[in-house]
Amino acid sequence: MADLNFSITMFYLKSHLFYTENMTKIGLFYGPTEGNVEKVAKLIASKIGNVDLVKVKEVDADVFDKYDNIILGISTLGKHTWSSDNEGNDWDQFLPKLNGADLKGKKVAIFGLGDHIAYADFFVDAMGELFEVVKETGATVIGGVSNEGYEYNESRAFVNGKFVGLPIDEDFEDDLTEERVDNWLKIILPEMK
Ligand SMILES: Cc1cc2nc3c(=O)[nH]c(=O)nc-3n(C[C@H](O)[C@H](O)[C@H](O)COP(=O)(O)O)c2cc1C
Repeated sequence: MADLNFSITMFYLKSHLFYTENMTKIGLFYGPTEGNVEKVAKLIASKIGNVDLVKVKEVDADVFDKYDNIILGISTLGKHTWSSDNEGNDWDQFLPKLNGADLKGKKVAIFGLGDHIAYADFFVDAMGELFEVVKETGATVIGGVSNEGYEYNESRAFVNGKFVGLPIDEDFEDDLTEERVDNWLKIILPEMK
């Protein structure tokens, strides 16, 4: 009976988690804390399993040395650009530390929280800003997403025909979050082996 219970538990876990045994540990860095970014970061971490969940405000850029596979989570809280309106937020403090950093050979996937109704002209802009900075480090950015199924007017995160990462709207489309995350993980995790 114990064996049967164990098998059922493992089946359940494997069908709900996306980890594979030979996957190297992923570093998931996010900010700000205590809001929707943290909520989605925890959801993603719970689905991957083999992940270090790290508040970006608590670390220096050399923390990336430990990881070949990195996920970054951010929200847009500005009117035009997140950086001009939110000096002092978690990512504003962290990003200068990335100046001159060499992340060549590392895979980076980004998710971004936004609000497609109230901020339709600036939808998940911060994800686009973060993408530009990460690109400068030489890292390979993976996990671009089609804008099919998203309604908005403008987005700085929409580059060359797709979003540079995964947009999530917990304000108006929280019922879609889990499905969006699952579909995204199916794309990025095989690339993060
Ligand atoms: C002051 C303020 C400005 C915002 N600006 C934008 C914006 O420009 N673009 C966008 O897509 N969402 C914008 N949002 C929506 C947030 O990104 C969204 O609510 C997100 O889920 C917040 O996550 P957080 O609480 O983890 O920061 C804004 C929200 C606030 C409160």
